[in-house]
Amino acid sequence: MKILCFLLCLCLNNVLGEYCYYRRGENSSYLDCEYLDADEAIEGISLIHLEYNTTIPIVKNNLLSRFTNLKTLFLTAANIQKIDSDAFRNQSLEMIDLYHNKLETIENGTFRNQSELKYLDLSYNMFKNITNTTFSGLISLEWLSLNSNQLKSIESSTFNETPKLKALFLRFNLIETINADTFKKLANLETLDLCANFLTTIPIGLFSGQAQLNTLMLQFNHLESLPNNTFDSNTELTWLDISNNRISVLPEELFIHTNNLEILRVNNNNITEFNATVLLSHTPMLREFHFYNNAMEDEGSI
Ligand SMILES: *[C@@H]1O[C@H](CO)[C@@H](O)[C@H](O)[C@H]1NC(C)=O
Ligand SMILES: *[C@@H]1O[C@H](CO)[C@@H](O)[C@H](O)[C@H]1NC(C)=O
Ligand SMILES: *[C@@H]1O[C@H](CO)[C@@H](O)[C@H](O)[C@H]1NC(C)=O
Ligand SMILES: *[C@@H]1O[C@H](CO)[C@@H](O)[C@H](O)[C@H]1NC(C)=O
Ligand SMILES: *[C@@H]1O[C@H](CO)[C@@H](O)[C@H](O)[C@H]1NC(C)=O
Ligand SMILES: *[C@@H]1O[C@H](CO)[C@@H](O)[C@H](O)[C@H]1NC(C)=O
Ligand SMILES: *[C@@H]1O[C@H](CO)[C@@H](O)[C@H](O)[C@H]1NC(C)=O
Ligand SMILES: *[C@@H]1O[C@H](CO)[C@@H](O)[C@H](O)[C@H]1NC(C)=O
Ligand SMILES: *[C@@H]1O[C@H](CO)[C@@H](O)[C@H](O)[C@H]1NC(C)=O
Ligand SMILES: *[C@@H]1O[C@H](CO)[C@@H](O)[C@H](O)[C@H]1NC(C)=O
Repeated sequence: MKILCFLLCLCLNNVLGEYCYYRRGENSSYLDCEYLDADEAIEGISLIHLEYNTTIPIVKNNLLSRFTNLKTLFLTAANIQKIDSDAFRNQSLEMIDLYHNKLETIENGTFRNQSELKYLDLSYNMFKNITNTTFSGLISLEWLSLNSNQLKSIESSTFNETPKLKALFLRFNLIETINADTFKKLANLETLDLCANFLTTIPIGLFSGQAQLNTLMLQFNHLESLPNNTFDSNTELTWLDISNNRISVLPEELFIHTNNLEILRVNNNNITEFNATVLLSHTPMLREFHFYNNAMEDEGSI
Protein backbone atom coordinates (compact mmCIF):
# COMPACT_ATOMS: atom_id res chain seq x y z
CA MET A 1 0.00 0.00 0.00
CA LYS A 2 2.77 2.35 0.97
CA ILE A 3 4.55 1.64 -2.27
CA LEU A 4 1.41 2.44 -4.21
CA CYS A 5 1.06 5.77 -2.45
CA PHE A 6 4.72 6.37 -3.01
CA LEU A 7 4.32 5.86 -6.74
CA LEU A 8 1.24 8.03 -6.82
CA CYS A 9 3.11 10.85 -5.15
CA LEU A 10 5.90 10.40 -7.63
CA CYS A 11 3.46 10.69 -10.52
CA LEU A 12 2.25 13.91 -9.04
CA ASN A 13 5.83 15.03 -8.75
CA ASN A 14 6.31 14.05 -12.32
CA VAL A 15 3.57 16.44 -13.43
CA LEU A 16 5.05 19.31 -11.49
CA GLY A 17 8.65 18.44 -12.23
CA GLU A 18 11.26 19.63 -14.62
CA TYR A 19 12.20 18.22 -17.97
CA CYS A 20 15.88 18.52 -18.75
CA TYR A 21 18.02 17.93 -21.77
CA TYR A 22 21.52 16.60 -21.73
CA ARG A 23 23.75 18.94 -23.75
CA ARG A 24 27.17 17.98 -24.87
CA GLY A 25 29.53 20.93 -24.73
CA GLU A 26 32.89 21.06 -26.35
CA ASN A 27 34.74 20.25 -23.14
CA SER A 28 32.04 19.32 -20.71
CA SER A 29 28.41 18.27 -20.73
CA TYR A 30 25.56 19.69 -18.70
CA LEU A 31 21.84 19.49 -18.01
CA ASP A 32 19.62 22.09 -19.55
CA CYS A 33 16.24 22.29 -17.83
CA GLU A 34 13.04 23.98 -18.90
CA TYR A 35 11.60 25.82 -15.96
CA LEU A 36 7.91 25.69 -15.30
CA ASP A 37 8.26 28.93 -13.45
CA ALA A 38 11.07 31.20 -14.55
CA ASP A 39 11.45 32.59 -11.03
CA GLU A 40 12.13 29.21 -9.55
CA ALA A 41 15.67 28.79 -8.34
CA ILE A 42 17.55 25.81 -9.68
CA GLU A 43 17.88 24.46 -6.15
CA GLY A 44 14.12 24.10 -5.98
CA ILE A 45 13.85 21.64 -8.82
CA SER A 46 12.85 18.25 -7.59
CA LEU A 47 12.96 16.16 -10.69
CA ILE A 48 15.25 15.65 -13.58
CA HIS A 49 13.58 13.66 -16.27
CA LEU A 50 15.65 13.13 -19.33
CA GLU A 51 14.13 12.77 -22.72
CA TYR A 52 14.09 9.26 -24.09
CA ASN A 53 17.06 8.27 -26.28
CA THR A 54 19.56 10.54 -24.64
CA THR A 55 23.08 9.17 -24.57
CA ILE A 56 25.09 9.86 -21.42
CA PRO A 57 28.04 7.45 -21.53
CA ILE A 58 29.30 8.57 -18.13
CA VAL A 59 27.44 10.41 -15.40
CA LYS A 60 30.28 12.66 -14.36
CA ASN A 61 30.88 13.98 -10.88
CA ASN A 62 29.86 17.51 -11.78
CA LEU A 63 26.72 16.73 -13.81
CA LEU A 64 24.37 17.17 -10.85
CA SER A 65 26.41 19.44 -8.65
CA ARG A 66 24.25 22.53 -9.35
CA PHE A 67 21.10 20.71 -8.27
CA THR A 68 21.66 20.70 -4.55
CA ASN A 69 17.99 20.30 -3.67
CA LEU A 70 17.32 17.33 -5.86
CA LYS A 71 15.05 14.63 -4.43
CA THR A 72 14.00 12.64 -7.44
CA LEU A 73 16.16 11.65 -10.35
CA PHE A 74 15.15 9.87 -13.54
CA LEU A 75 18.07 8.97 -15.78
CA THR A 76 16.34 6.28 -17.79
CA ALA A 77 17.07 4.83 -21.23
CA ALA A 78 20.11 7.06 -21.54
CA ASN A 79 22.75 4.48 -22.49
CA ILE A 80 24.64 5.14 -19.28
CA GLN A 81 27.67 2.87 -18.89
CA LYS A 82 29.25 4.35 -15.83
CA ILE A 83 28.47 6.60 -12.89
CA ASP A 84 31.38 8.40 -11.30
CA SER A 85 31.45 7.43 -7.65
CA ASP A 86 31.04 11.04 -6.50
CA ALA A 87 28.17 11.88 -8.87
CA PHE A 88 25.52 11.86 -6.09
CA ARG A 89 27.82 12.95 -3.30
CA ASN A 90 26.23 16.36 -2.64
CA GLN A 91 22.64 15.23 -3.11
CA SER A 92 20.24 13.75 -0.66
CA LEU A 93 17.97 11.87 -3.02
CA GLU A 94 14.76 9.99 -2.25
CA MET A 95 14.36 8.23 -5.55
CA ILE A 96 16.78 7.21 -8.29
CA ASP A 97 15.50 5.61 -11.45
CA LEU A 98 18.20 4.25 -13.74
CA TYR A 99 16.26 1.62 -15.65
CA HIS A 100 17.17 0.71 -19.19
CA ASN A 101 20.80 1.74 -19.24
CA LYS A 102 24.05 -0.14 -19.79
CA LEU A 103 25.41 -0.25 -16.27
CA GLU A 104 27.57 -3.22 -15.34
CA THR A 105 28.71 -2.09 -11.99
CA ILE A 106 28.16 0.45 -9.23
CA GLU A 107 31.41 1.65 -7.76
CA ASN A 108 32.09 1.41 -4.07
CA GLY A 109 30.81 4.56 -2.37
CA THR A 110 28.41 5.72 -5.09
CA PHE A 111 25.43 5.68 -2.70
CA ARG A 112 27.40 6.43 0.46
CA ASN A 113 25.56 9.70 1.13
CA GLN A 114 22.10 8.50 0.14
CA SER A 115 20.74 7.82 3.59
CA GLU A 116 17.30 9.18 2.54
CA LEU A 117 16.94 7.10 -0.60
CA LYS A 118 13.79 4.96 -0.55
CA TYR A 119 13.45 3.83 -4.14
CA LEU A 120 16.11 2.57 -6.56
CA ASP A 121 15.37 1.10 -9.96
CA LEU A 122 18.32 -0.59 -11.70
CA SER A 123 16.26 -2.86 -13.92
CA TYR A 124 17.15 -3.50 -17.56
CA ASN A 125 20.86 -2.93 -17.14
CA MET A 126 23.85 -5.23 -17.57
CA PHE A 127 24.78 -6.14 -14.00
CA LYS A 128 26.49 -9.51 -13.81
CA ASN A 129 27.23 -9.37 -10.15
CA ILE A 130 26.51 -7.13 -7.22
CA THR A 131 28.61 -7.08 -4.10
CA ASN A 132 28.38 -5.92 -0.54
CA THR A 133 29.71 -2.48 -1.50
CA THR A 134 27.06 -1.84 -4.17
CA PHE A 135 24.30 -0.73 -1.79
CA SER A 136 26.49 0.62 1.01
CA GLY A 137 24.84 3.63 2.62
CA LEU A 138 21.25 2.93 1.55
CA ILE A 139 19.98 2.58 5.10
CA SER A 140 16.48 3.83 4.21
CA LEU A 141 15.98 1.91 0.99
CA GLU A 142 12.52 0.32 0.78
CA TRP A 143 12.12 -0.60 -2.89
CA LEU A 144 14.81 -2.07 -5.14
CA SER A 145 14.54 -3.53 -8.60
CA LEU A 146 17.30 -5.44 -10.34
CA ASN A 147 14.91 -7.08 -12.79
CA SER A 148 16.24 -8.01 -16.21
CA ASN A 149 19.94 -7.97 -15.60
CA GLN A 150 22.47 -10.78 -15.97
CA LEU A 151 23.04 -11.64 -12.34
CA LYS A 152 24.34 -15.16 -11.84
CA SER A 153 24.91 -14.93 -8.15
CA ILE A 154 24.47 -12.58 -5.25
CA GLU A 155 27.03 -12.27 -2.48
CA SER A 156 25.54 -13.28 0.84
CA SER A 157 26.30 -9.89 2.43
CA THR A 158 24.91 -7.77 -0.45
CA PHE A 159 21.82 -6.67 1.47
CA ASN A 160 23.46 -6.34 4.89
CA GLU A 161 23.22 -2.55 4.82
CA THR A 162 19.66 -2.17 3.53
CA PRO A 163 17.60 -3.29 6.55
CA LYS A 164 14.48 -1.30 5.58
CA LEU A 165 13.95 -3.06 2.27
CA LYS A 166 10.29 -3.99 1.77
CA ALA A 167 10.26 -4.97 -1.89
CA LEU A 168 13.05 -6.66 -3.79
CA PHE A 169 12.75 -7.60 -7.45
CA LEU A 170 15.27 -10.00 -9.01
CA ARG A 171 13.09 -11.27 -11.86
CA PHE A 172 14.62 -12.24 -15.24
CA ASN A 173 18.20 -12.83 -14.21
CA LEU A 174 20.48 -15.88 -14.43
CA ILE A 175 20.65 -16.68 -10.73
CA GLU A 176 21.59 -20.32 -10.15
CA THR A 177 22.33 -20.38 -6.46
CA ILE A 178 21.55 -18.23 -3.47
CA ASN A 179 23.36 -18.41 -0.18
CA ALA A 180 21.09 -19.17 2.78
CA ASP A 181 22.18 -15.92 4.48
CA THR A 182 21.41 -13.60 1.56
CA PHE A 183 18.17 -12.15 2.98
CA LYS A 184 19.06 -12.62 6.65
CA LYS A 185 19.09 -8.89 7.45
CA LEU A 186 15.88 -8.10 5.56
CA ALA A 187 13.38 -8.48 8.39
CA ASN A 188 10.96 -6.00 6.81
CA LEU A 189 10.72 -7.66 3.43
CA GLU A 190 7.13 -7.93 2.17
CA THR A 191 7.63 -8.71 -1.50
CA LEU A 192 10.34 -10.87 -3.02
CA ASP A 193 10.42 -11.69 -6.70
CA LEU A 194 12.84 -14.37 -7.87
CA CYS A 195 10.76 -15.40 -10.85
CA ALA A 196 12.45 -16.49 -14.08
CA ASN A 197 15.90 -17.48 -12.85
CA PHE A 198 17.80 -20.78 -12.79
CA LEU A 199 17.38 -21.83 -9.19
CA THR A 200 17.47 -25.59 -8.66
CA THR A 201 17.27 -25.58 -4.87
CA ILE A 202 16.18 -23.33 -2.06
CA PRO A 203 18.72 -23.54 0.75
CA ILE A 204 17.35 -24.36 4.20
CA GLY A 205 16.51 -21.18 6.06
CA LEU A 206 16.60 -18.83 3.06
CA PHE A 207 13.32 -17.15 4.06
CA SER A 208 13.60 -17.73 7.80
CA GLY A 209 14.11 -14.03 8.62
CA GLN A 210 11.08 -12.77 6.70
CA ALA A 211 8.17 -12.73 9.13
CA GLN A 212 6.48 -9.91 7.14
CA LEU A 213 6.75 -11.55 3.73
CA ASN A 214 3.40 -11.55 1.94
CA THR A 215 4.27 -12.09 -1.71
CA LEU A 216 6.84 -14.60 -2.91
CA MET A 217 7.44 -15.29 -6.58
CA LEU A 218 9.51 -18.37 -7.43
CA GLN A 219 7.85 -19.39 -10.69
CA PHE A 220 9.82 -20.25 -13.82
CA ASN A 221 12.90 -21.62 -12.12
CA HIS A 222 14.36 -25.14 -12.12
CA LEU A 223 13.33 -26.11 -8.60
CA GLU A 224 13.04 -29.83 -8.00
CA SER A 225 12.00 -29.79 -4.38
CA LEU A 226 11.51 -27.52 -1.42
CA PRO A 227 12.70 -28.28 2.11
CA ASN A 228 9.79 -29.04 4.45
CA ASN A 229 10.47 -25.97 6.57
CA THR A 230 10.97 -23.50 3.71
CA PHE A 231 8.01 -21.28 4.67
CA ASP A 232 7.85 -21.95 8.42
CA SER A 233 8.61 -18.31 9.30
CA ASN A 234 6.38 -16.77 6.66
CA THR A 235 3.14 -16.64 8.59
CA GLU A 236 2.00 -13.51 6.72
CA LEU A 237 2.44 -15.04 3.29
CA THR A 238 -0.67 -14.49 1.17
CA TRP A 239 0.60 -15.06 -2.35
CA LEU A 240 2.99 -17.86 -3.26
CA ASP A 241 3.83 -18.82 -6.82
CA ILE A 242 6.01 -21.89 -7.36
CA SER A 243 4.50 -22.82 -10.70
CA ASN A 244 6.53 -23.78 -13.76
CA ASN A 245 9.31 -25.58 -11.94
CA ARG A 246 10.28 -29.26 -11.80
CA ILE A 247 8.93 -30.07 -8.39
CA SER A 248 7.87 -33.70 -8.00
CA VAL A 249 7.40 -33.88 -4.24
CA LEU A 250 5.37 -31.18 -2.55
CA PRO A 251 4.92 -32.15 1.12
CA GLU A 252 1.74 -30.73 2.68
CA GLU A 253 3.94 -29.94 5.72
CA LEU A 254 5.26 -27.00 3.71
CA PHE A 255 2.10 -25.05 4.48
CA ILE A 256 1.61 -25.77 8.18
CA HIS A 257 2.50 -22.18 9.14
CA THR A 258 1.32 -20.23 6.10
CA ASN A 259 -2.17 -19.89 7.54
CA ASN A 260 -2.89 -16.64 5.70
CA LEU A 261 -2.25 -17.99 2.24
CA GLU A 262 -4.81 -16.72 -0.29
CA ILE A 263 -3.23 -17.57 -3.62
CA LEU A 264 -1.14 -20.67 -4.25
CA ARG A 265 0.10 -21.59 -7.70
CA VAL A 266 1.86 -24.91 -8.15
CA ASN A 267 0.74 -25.63 -11.70
CA ASN A 268 3.16 -26.85 -14.37
CA ASN A 269 5.31 -29.01 -12.15
CA ASN A 270 5.69 -32.77 -11.85
CA ILE A 271 3.78 -33.37 -8.65
CA THR A 272 2.59 -36.93 -8.36
CA GLU A 273 1.03 -36.89 -4.92
CA PHE A 274 -0.73 -34.14 -3.07
CA ASN A 275 -3.50 -34.12 -0.50
CA ALA A 276 -5.56 -30.95 -0.96
CA THR A 277 -7.64 -31.74 2.15
CA VAL A 278 -4.53 -31.45 4.29
CA LEU A 279 -3.53 -28.23 2.52
CA LEU A 280 -6.94 -26.67 3.14
CA SER A 281 -6.84 -27.58 6.82
CA HIS A 282 -3.83 -25.25 7.17
CA THR A 283 -4.91 -22.51 4.77
CA PRO A 284 -8.46 -21.37 5.61
CA MET A 285 -8.05 -18.16 3.57
CA LEU A 286 -7.12 -19.91 0.34
CA ARG A 287 -9.24 -18.65 -2.57
CA GLU A 288 -7.09 -19.51 -5.58
CA PHE A 289 -5.23 -22.80 -6.00
CA HIS A 290 -3.68 -23.65 -9.37
CA PHE A 291 -2.67 -27.24 -9.74
CA TYR A 292 -3.13 -28.00 -13.46
CA ASN A 293 -0.41 -29.52 -15.64
CA ASN A 294 1.05 -31.82 -13.03
CA ALA A 295 1.72 -35.53 -13.10
CA MET A 296 -1.39 -36.26 -11.03
CA GLU A 297 -4.54 -37.38 -12.77
CA ASP A 298 -6.88 -35.45 -10.53
CA GLU A 299 -6.03 -32.00 -11.86
CA GLY A 300 -7.83 -28.74 -11.47
CA SER A 301 -8.05 -25.61 -9.44
CA ILE A 302 -10.35 -24.22 -6.82
C1 LIG B 1 37.85 23.58 -24.58
O1 LIG B 1 39.17 23.22 -24.24
C2 LIG B 1 40.16 23.73 -25.15
C3 LIG B 1 41.52 23.18 -24.73
O2 LIG B 1 41.61 23.07 -23.34
C4 LIG B 1 40.11 25.26 -25.13
O3 LIG B 1 41.05 25.78 -26.06
C5 LIG B 1 38.72 25.74 -25.50
O4 LIG B 1 38.60 27.13 -25.39
C6 LIG B 1 37.65 25.08 -24.59
N1 LIG B 1 36.32 25.44 -25.06
C7 LIG B 1 35.38 25.91 -24.27
C8 LIG B 1 34.07 26.19 -24.91
O5 LIG B 1 35.54 26.11 -23.08
C1 LIG C 1 17.92 7.27 -31.00
O1 LIG C 1 19.15 7.87 -31.38
C2 LIG C 1 19.77 7.26 -32.47
C3 LIG C 1 21.13 7.91 -32.70
O2 LIG C 1 21.26 9.12 -32.03
C4 LIG C 1 18.87 7.38 -33.70
O3 LIG C 1 19.46 6.76 -34.80
C5 LIG C 1 17.53 6.72 -33.39
O4 LIG C 1 16.64 6.88 -34.45
C6 LIG C 1 16.92 7.31 -32.13
N1 LIG C 1 15.73 6.53 -31.74
C7 LIG C 1 14.59 7.10 -31.38
C8 LIG C 1 13.49 6.17 -30.99
O5 LIG C 1 14.44 8.30 -31.35
C1 LIG D 1 30.31 18.90 -3.28
O1 LIG D 1 30.28 20.11 -2.56
C2 LIG D 1 31.57 20.55 -2.19
C3 LIG D 1 31.40 21.79 -1.30
O2 LIG D 1 30.43 22.64 -1.84
C4 LIG D 1 32.39 20.85 -3.45
O3 LIG D 1 33.68 21.24 -3.09
C5 LIG D 1 32.47 19.57 -4.27
O4 LIG D 1 33.13 19.82 -5.49
C6 LIG D 1 31.09 19.03 -4.56
N1 LIG D 1 31.22 17.73 -5.20
C7 LIG D 1 30.47 17.33 -6.21
C8 LIG D 1 30.74 15.99 -6.77
O5 LIG D 1 29.58 18.01 -6.66
C1 LIG E 1 28.89 13.02 1.91
O1 LIG E 1 29.73 12.07 2.54
C2 LIG E 1 30.97 12.57 2.93
C3 LIG E 1 31.75 11.42 3.50
O2 LIG E 1 31.76 10.34 2.64
C4 LIG E 1 30.78 13.70 3.93
O3 LIG E 1 32.02 14.24 4.25
C5 LIG E 1 29.90 14.78 3.31
O4 LIG E 1 29.63 15.78 4.24
C6 LIG E 1 28.62 14.20 2.82
N1 LIG E 1 27.86 15.22 2.13
C7 LIG E 1 26.57 15.43 2.31
C8 LIG E 1 25.95 16.52 1.52
O5 LIG E 1 25.91 14.76 3.07
C1 LIG F 1 34.71 0.61 -0.03
O1 LIG F 1 34.85 1.92 0.50
C2 LIG F 1 35.00 1.97 1.89
C3 LIG F 1 35.00 3.42 2.34
O2 LIG F 1 35.86 4.19 1.57
C4 LIG F 1 36.30 1.25 2.28
O3 LIG F 1 36.47 1.27 3.67
C5 LIG F 1 36.22 -0.19 1.76
O4 LIG F 1 37.45 -0.85 2.01
C6 LIG F 1 35.93 -0.22 0.30
N1 LIG F 1 35.69 -1.62 -0.10
C7 LIG F 1 36.18 -2.16 -1.21
C8 LIG F 1 35.85 -3.58 -1.46
O5 LIG F 1 36.86 -1.52 -1.99
C1 LIG G 1 31.90 -8.34 -10.85
O1 LIG G 1 31.80 -7.76 -12.14
C2 LIG G 1 32.88 -6.91 -12.46
C3 LIG G 1 32.62 -6.32 -13.83
O2 LIG G 1 31.37 -6.62 -14.32
C4 LIG G 1 34.18 -7.70 -12.42
O3 LIG G 1 35.24 -6.83 -12.68
C5 LIG G 1 34.37 -8.33 -11.04
O4 LIG G 1 35.50 -9.15 -11.02
C6 LIG G 1 33.15 -9.17 -10.68
N1 LIG G 1 33.29 -9.63 -9.31
C7 LIG G 1 32.98 -10.85 -8.95
C8 LIG G 1 33.14 -11.15 -7.49
O5 LIG G 1 32.56 -11.70 -9.72
C1 LIG H 1 32.26 -7.95 1.74
O1 LIG H 1 32.75 -9.02 0.97
C2 LIG H 1 34.13 -9.23 1.13
C3 LIG H 1 34.57 -10.35 0.20
O2 LIG H 1 33.75 -10.50 -0.89
C4 LIG H 1 34.42 -9.59 2.58
O3 LIG H 1 35.81 -9.76 2.76
C5 LIG H 1 33.92 -8.49 3.50
O4 LIG H 1 34.05 -8.88 4.84
C6 LIG H 1 32.46 -8.19 3.24
N1 LIG H 1 32.09 -7.02 4.00
C7 LIG H 1 30.96 -6.95 4.71
C8 LIG H 1 30.71 -5.65 5.41
O5 LIG H 1 30.17 -7.86 4.78
C1 LIG I 1 9.23 -33.83 4.72
O1 LIG I 1 8.31 -34.39 5.62
C2 LIG I 1 7.83 -35.67 5.24
C3 LIG I 1 6.75 -36.11 6.20
O2 LIG I 1 7.04 -35.69 7.49
C4 LIG I 1 8.98 -36.63 5.20
O3 LIG I 1 8.52 -37.88 4.76
C5 LIG I 1 10.03 -36.11 4.22
O4 LIG I 1 11.15 -36.94 4.24
C6 LIG I 1 10.43 -34.73 4.59
N1 LIG I 1 11.27 -34.19 3.54
C7 LIG I 1 12.39 -33.54 3.79
C8 LIG I 1 13.14 -33.06 2.60
O5 LIG I 1 12.78 -33.31 4.91
C1 LIG J 1 8.62 -36.55 -12.88
O1 LIG J 1 8.81 -37.32 -11.71
C2 LIG J 1 9.07 -38.69 -11.94
C3 LIG J 1 9.21 -39.39 -10.59
O2 LIG J 1 8.24 -38.97 -9.72
C4 LIG J 1 10.36 -38.83 -12.73
O3 LIG J 1 10.56 -40.18 -13.05
C5 LIG J 1 10.25 -38.01 -14.01
O4 LIG J 1 11.48 -38.02 -14.68
C6 LIG J 1 9.88 -36.58 -13.70
N1 LIG J 1 9.67 -35.84 -14.93
C7 LIG J 1 10.22 -34.65 -15.15
C8 LIG J 1 9.90 -34.02 -16.46
O5 LIG J 1 10.94 -34.09 -14.33
C1 LIG K 1 -5.92 -36.75 2.77
O1 LIG K 1 -5.64 -36.60 4.15
C2 LIG K 1 -6.77 -36.79 4.97
C3 LIG K 1 -6.35 -36.38 6.39
O2 LIG K 1 -5.12 -36.91 6.74
C4 LIG K 1 -7.21 -38.23 4.87
O3 LIG K 1 -8.33 -38.42 5.68
C5 LIG K 1 -7.56 -38.52 3.40
O4 LIG K 1 -7.87 -39.88 3.25
C6 LIG K 1 -6.39 -38.16 2.50
N1 LIG K 1 -6.80 -38.27 1.12
C7 LIG K 1 -6.11 -38.92 0.20
C8 LIG K 1 -6.66 -38.95 -1.16
O5 LIG K 1 -5.06 -39.48 0.48
